Amino acid sequence: MKGNILIVDDDTAHLSMLQTVLKSLGHTIDSVTDGKEAISGVAETPYDLVLMDVRMANIGGMEALEKIKALNPAIPIIIMTAYSSVDKAVEAMKLGAYDYLTKPLNFDDLKITIERAMSHLHLTRENADLKKRISADTGFSRIIGTSPAMKAVMETARIAAPSDATILMTGDSGTGKELFAKAIHDHSARNKNQLISINCAALNETLLESELFGHEKGAFTSADKKRDGLFLHADKGTIFLDEIGEIPLSMQVKLLRTIQEREIQRVGSDRPIRIDVRIIVATNKNLEQEVKHGRFREDLFYRLNVINIKVPSLKERPDDIPLLAQHFLTRYSQKNRKQFKGFTPAAMDALMKHPWPGNVRELENAVERAVILSMGQYISEKDLPGNMIKIYEPDDASRKFLPGIGGRSLDELESMALAQTLKQTGGNKTEAAKILNITRTTLNNKIKKYHLDLDQILSSHP
Ligand SMILES: Nc1ncnc2c1ncn2[C@@H]1O[C@H](COP(=O)(O)OP(=O)(O)OP(=O)(O)O)[C@@H](O)[C@H]1O
Ligand SMILES: [Mg+2]
Repeated sequence: MKGNILIVDDDTAHLSMLQTVLKSLGHTIDSVTDGKEAISGVAETPYDLVLMDVRMANIGGMEALEKIKALNPAIPIIIMTAYSSVDKAVEAMKLGAYDYLTKPLNFDDLKITIERAMSHLHLTRENADLKKRISADTGFSRIIGTSPAMKAVMETARIAAPSDATILMTGDSGTGKELFAKAIHDHSARNKNQLISINCAALNETLLESELFGHEKGAFTSADKKRDGLFLHADKGTIFLDEIGEIPLSMQVKLLRTIQEREIQRVGSDRPIRIDVRIIVATNKNLEQEVKHGRFREDLFYRLNVINIKVPSLKERPDDIPLLAQHFLTRYSQKNRKQFKGFTPAAMDALMKHPWPGNVRELENAVERAVILSMGQYISEKDLPGNMIKIYEPDDASRKFLPGIGGRSLDELESMALAQTLKQTGGNKTEAAKILNITRTTLNNKIKKYHLDLDQILSSHP
């Protein structure tokens, strides 16, 4: 395995000798003569390996080692040391060096050690890639929610995913139907091929037909060349038909034929083309109702409704709100380079009580907006969209009653409020005092009065 190596040695003769040897092994080499340059080198260039002498003028090897590790924890560093100072090598290993070599160098050792360090690095990178792919980008791990309602839905989707069964996703706007469709595709053997999504409500009938099935040259006025449709693009993969409740009856017939025959025909052609496509459809309409009113074909409904996954609205699972809110807060804080840690109790209270007609999408937007418009470490009630807080004016009597509060002394309630706020600010007293609207001194006095143990609070569960 060849790599990009940085050599650090203040003995220039030794340095150029190493450079020649390693170049002859096929590596790319940069070299510097002191620790300071080594640190700035690593900060600028993503080296695969650092080979460094420990005893140098200026910044010594040990200090450079620590700084380089802080900059790039994954980079393997091989230390060179005189035989007489092996204790330095031990120290270096403790600080995170990958391995050490004693001077004068044995070239076989050098070659093998570098080889090993490189394959170690390669594995670490592969591992990190894999973890990233599993946790961040694909599958069900992207779907946040631990409420029983959500867990049940996720379980059904997980079981259904590997099959080829047609899936009907229902649920209100913004509940995550498309997110589920993606997760199901990612979790199936078809994930090596494409997931093609189309919003059926966005196109008129003619365009929708040619978009889905393709057309021959000259099939209609603007068809100046032959074109493949989305069904063909999705061959061996999955097609996601969003807002299926909006397609006109004539298209419903064509779709039904496609599902039954597993064949399509380009507009303007009568030659059938076989396709192998998994179909997932979504709607926020009640299709049974649509069938009853004659707006949706009953036979198509049954063809689509093989497995029905109903994603619950946010109102049905308020337990998921804090988790989702925190998830979006982290995401948008990173994106906007801000440092938000959480929500004030009043803000969280407002989030929990809002009816969320736009579901997760509305929550995501509210949090993104708050992150962009606010400053500090905690999102407060005033940072949330106006329509959310207005609902909870003090005249809303229900707001005066919090569960679990009745039957306690005021002192007890005060110490609970203190503990909870300190927990929320991660022990930051200045922040906690601000949220509680008292001075830091008052806060300290109260902490003493109630014998609150900060360590215990921070390590406890909510
Ligand atoms: N459980 C969840 N965890 C994380 N993000 C979610 C979750 N549910 C929805 N989202 C996010 O909320 C937004 C809306 O989700 P999505 O587009 O899947 O909703 P939808 O049900 O298809 O809505 P519509 O019916 O309006 O098309 C997306 O940004 C999605 O990533
Ligand atoms: Mg959608």
